[in-house]
Amino acid sequence: MTRSLLSIDDLGREGIETVLALTREFRDVSSRPIPKVPALRGKTIANCFFEDSTRTRISFEIAAKRLSADTITFTQKGSSLSKGESLRDTVRTLCAMGVNALVCRHEASGAPARIAQWVDVPVINAGDGAHEHPTQALLDVATVADHRGDLGGLRTLIVGDIAHSRVARSNVLAFSAMGAQVTVCGPATLLPPGGESWPAEVTTDLDAALEKADIIYLLRMQKERIEADPVFGSIKEYVQMYGLTAERAARLDPDVLVMHPGPMNRGIEIASEAADLPASLVEEQVANGVAVRMAVLYLALGGTP
Ligand code: CP
Repeated sequence: MTRSLLSIDDLGREGIETVLALTREFRDVSSRPIPKVPALRGKTIANCFFEDSTRTRISFEIAAKRLSADTITFTQKGSSLSKGESLRDTVRTLCAMGVNALVCRHEASGAPARIAQWVDVPVINAGDGAHEHPTQALLDVATVADHRGDLGGLRTLIVGDIAHSRVARSNVLAFSAMGAQVTVCGPATLLPPGGESWPAEVTTDLDAALEKADIIYLLRMQKERIEADPVFGSIKEYVQMYGLTAERAARLDPDVLVMHPGPMNRGIEIASEAADLPASLVEEQVANGVAVRMAVLYLALGGTP
């Protein structure tokens, strides 16, 4: 049996709370002069990024090193995938070399789950297509918990391209599991088919939703998608209707927390005036990514809470 993390549903509330408790311990480790513990000494973790990443890839690498694991980073470019080697043969080749866990990002939804069927080591989903990004949701919950403690009843508004966002999916599951009231907001063309089955309210009216939010979470707008979508219109129109513009940011109660998973498109989904507000948690989210991923790797490789 392996301890893969493919979806927030693998954890539930109890599992999320276990990760949060360990995150607090590992954050203490990170603040030491020598931020390292021997918890995973002798283990080798492969960071397999078949799609680009800055935050997730580097924070998994830092997390593994702080736990004293050896790391290798596999990227598509420069690998034998270009010679036609299959994904299955690629990951099994890594495991044949003695890798103890795989961290996988892939553009295809479900790729980490498929990989987990092919290998005997834990697989951590580092973002798959439009499916899920569970460690992003965990670091987001940890960041809000730092500011608000209990998430129960917190009105959380997630705004943007909900239909294509793995972050939206994982965050809806994680925040609702922790008792928050979640609303997703975006243009009708970018709301998910079947979204009525999500544990969230759905709206297209950002200005009305903003008045009732304790947290506003902006998603990255995939400019390439919106420009190619004749149904939606222009980026200018998107900004007017769904951007956290300087004008909207000025109307926010100072207690409203502003979040974004990065990378940000400043001037599109979020204006610089909003991204740089005192209430903006964007850099805290990134910082929490290291301790959260330490907790996830530790649990995946057999550590006990
Ligand atoms: N938030 C996030 O997943 O960022 P990266 O694509 O840079 O990893």
